[in-house]
Amino acid sequence: MRKQHRERQTDMKTKSSRNKTIDFPLEEAAPYLDRCVRGDVGPFGELRDKTILGDAFEVLERLPDRSVDLVIADPYYNLSKSFHGNASRKQDFGQYAAYTERWVGKVARKLKPDGSIYVCCDWKSSGAVEQVLQRHFIVRNRITWQREKGRGAGANWKNAMEDIWFATCSETYTFNLDAVKIRRRVHAPYRLGGKPRDWEQTQQGRYRDTCPSNFWDDISVPYWSMAENTAHPTQKPEKLIAKLILASSRAGDIVLDPFLGSGTTSVVARKLGRSYIGIEQNPLYCAWAEYRLEKALGDTTIQGYTDGRFWERNSCAEQLRIKKEGARPAPAGKPAKPRPKDEDNE
Ligand SMILES: C[S@@+](CC[C@H](N)C(=O)[O-])C[C@H]1O[C@@H](n2cnc3c(N)ncnc32)[C@H](O)[C@@H]1O
Repeated sequence: MRKQHRERQTDMKTKSSRNKTIDFPLEEAAPYLDRCVRGDVGPFGELRDKTILGDAFEVLERLPDRSVDLVIADPYYNLSKSFHGNASRKQDFGQYAAYTERWVGKVARKLKPDGSIYVCCDWKSSGAVEQVLQRHFIVRNRITWQREKGRGAGANWKNAMEDIWFATCSETYTFNLDAVKIRRRVHAPYRLGGKPRDWEQTQQGRYRDTCPSNFWDDISVPYWSMAENTAHPTQKPEKLIAKLILASSRAGDIVLDPFLGSGTTSVVARKLGRSYIGIEQNPLYCAWAEYRLEKALGDTTIQGYTDGRFWERNSCAEQLRIKKEGARPAPAGKPAKPRPKDEDNE
């Protein structure tokens, strides 16, 4: 009864003109689906920069071994959830670990010896994911993403975190630290011999590029007014995927996502000059991915990543201003006049 009421309410709602959510139906998907490789028919041709419609467990068997540089995997978490016609089912720890072992084992063979892998999960599935990764890789870190969004629990702490495990095939791997530093406003500008220490005075203010930690609180979940947003129920933010790709691959490298969803990994790979292979079992999601890939040909912007730098959360207006004005250093001997906000922050 309650559900019927909710559905009626949704039907009655008219979409705001600012709502950019990509959610066209399967009946309109044909032009985009035509660009996908069918995972269940014939031999594969060139797979670079392709979306493969099919079951990852079967498709992975047919990809060449040692062919990709980076894997970004965002599989079903161990939850009962509906995905436009498919559904994930909650399992016990052992069953979820066995499921994880089945795909991680396949993916491990596809990575080059200097390759890396990131696996997304929540706190409940994290233990199983770590256990399996330890068997196949050198586990290097666990990133915690504070995504904030989430329903409050009646008699528990609200779950507002996700984990992203980082592992490599060997001791030789790519890690581009400078590419993923975060640009922050400096609140306590320290000078040595009258010169800024570890920070930069620009005409727009004082900034420092800080080393990123394994706690990420600068990334919002995509929402309706963002151009990247789709109706996929568990879409990852482009900014989050951009950090993984920039840190752990070089221009031209191949990034594989075996659970592509709405296409975020492939879209970001394209925007950042990498190649991609994405596998997704749901035709609707494949079509949305191809739609986004088409848009990415003309628009390579990634919200929260401006001027080749990552920015703190809620700094959109500041980024826009800097993009317009250009982040020029202040003329020598003439420090920029701080805006009132700078003073407030110190
Ligand atoms: C958590 S979502 C990934 C979301 C994605 N990161 C994004 O930004 O949209 C997992 C996706 O994996 C797909 N999937 C699950 N099992 C699969 C399988 N065996 N083969 C291919 N795709 C699968 C689901 O349809 C779902 O879209």
